[in-house]
Amino acid sequence: MSEPSMLDAAVLQSNLDSILIGEKLLVFQETASTNDLAKTYFQEGAVQGLILIADRQTDGKGRFGRSWHSESEVGIYTSILLVPDLPVETLSGLSLLAGVAVVTAVNEFSHPNASLKWPNDILLNGKKLGGVLCETVRNPQGQTGVVVGIGINVNHNSFPEKLRSIATSIHLEMGHPIDRQALILSLLHHLDREYQDFLITGIPGITAKWSQHTKMFGSSITLIKGKTRIHGTALQLDEKGNLVIRTPEGNTMAFDSGEVTMES
Ligand code: BTN
Repeated sequence: MSEPSMLDAAVLQSNLDSILIGEKLLVFQETASTNDLAKTYFQEGAVQGLILIADRQTDGKGRFGRSWHSESEVGIYTSILLVPDLPVETLSGLSLLAGVAVVTAVNEFSHPNASLKWPNDILLNGKKLGGVLCETVRNPQGQTGVVVGIGINVNHNSFPEKLRSIATSIHLEMGHPIDRQALILSLLHHLDREYQDFLITGIPGITAKWSQHTKMFGSSITLIKGKTRIHGTALQLDEKGNLVIRTPEGNTMAFDSGEVTMES
């Protein structure tokens, strides 16, 4: 069994085997949010491939304006700056891509295996193990960057009361801690490979991979989008990466965003 390790930027940088990401890798003991920091770096001249990692976040951000529990030294909190030369409508594929990379990396360390809930929640034993927050940002030159923010619960052995029934960690599920640094290297490796593939195969390529890692299809779900709640059966992702749902009345609808709850 590997022991938990402190994060070491030099060790991470020298063990990276990536092509498009990792040109620069910075590790911070503490920052408010690695996503916010990456946006600032981009506006101040950083280029594609920047990786920021924090041991702890004081204002970690989740989707839907929620906060992300970012306890010291037990999780992975990272943001990667991508500047893809792609039409804006394909950028949503980056968030599916990040989910695929996270689940592939996690499953090298975790038994039982993690799975994906659309668009990019990482679940383990029905609880939330990780999440992805992608944000776009413009720099003064007018380029659009995408900050891919990833949070993974790795070595937590407990959670605050309000998260206890919905969140889990690899440690809690496996019964022992794992090497965060090894998981980060695997994550960056898979992110780099998936990004290279995505630039060639686009959304159809990534939706096919994403679909191999989900237990959603065929399940009853509720999707909340703004003030609307839709119940139905999750069928598949369409060619744009939208979630296709069949309602009890037999109608088929596709959604480009929303929050899904799976009914057990
Ligand atoms: C979610 O709500 O599921 C997305 C959570 C994303 C959290 C990560 S942690 C690193 C990066 N920095 C942030 O402030 N948020 C993301």
